[in-house]
Amino acid sequence: MTHMTTKAIQANEQLAHITGLAPLIPVLVVREVAHAKPLGEILISAGLPALEVTLRSPEALDVIAAMSELPGGVVGAGTVLSAQHAKAAKEAGARFAVSPGATPALIDACEAEELPLLAGVSTASEAMVLRERGYSFAKFFPAEASGGAAMLKALGGPLPDMKFCPTGGLTPDNVTDYLALPNIVCAGGSWLAPDHLLARQAWDEIEALAQSAATLTQTFRSNSRA
Ligand code: 3PG
Repeated sequence: MTHMTTKAIQANEQLAHITGLAPLIPVLVVREVAHAKPLGEILISAGLPALEVTLRSPEALDVIAAMSELPGGVVGAGTVLSAQHAKAAKEAGARFAVSPGATPALIDACEAEELPLLAGVSTASEAMVLRERGYSFAKFFPAEASGGAAMLKALGGPLPDMKFCPTGGLTPDNVTDYLALPNIVCAGGSWLAPDHLLARQAWDEIEALAQSAATLTQTFRSNSRA
């Protein structure tokens, strides 16, 4: 690891904590600020405190600010693509950033903002670039399209010190395949709060989805780690 800096070491430590909070990180596209608190409360109460709010809606930064006020949650910004995104996310209160890929400029910007970056990778070379910078945590994206659990298992051979959070195409049916792998620290998915349920504020249905996902992943984890 040739380019490790103190900031990277700090970011890596924070990523270890955040990715260890729960087996699942909900990936959220929230289009109304009024949805931020009810949605966050449901997910946090279901045992899913780490929440990724993607910067894919005009309201995202306000949603991050509102959701960050909830006790017990750790709210991050997703789809962080640029230094400007990193700065705005930090100012809104985001505690971490998630990106689909990683560029040196984005890593530098997040380190300058002291915003731990869970950067996306889908190849061994990309994971090695992060590793050289001092990171041992990465998002694996787009997980299903990039070879799924079999690809992650294969990466675990030569890169056993890298831990991944797969996202992209995960469902309640395939998430346990990923969580069974020793190099998976948690998994991310948007299925917990789909647009059609959020649009009609179907909080009961979202609560049911969150509780079944939390139960599924926690039961699975305690069995597989026993
Ligand atoms: C994303 O950034 O879109 C996440 O990877 C979520 O993917 P999903 O919608 O397939 O769960």
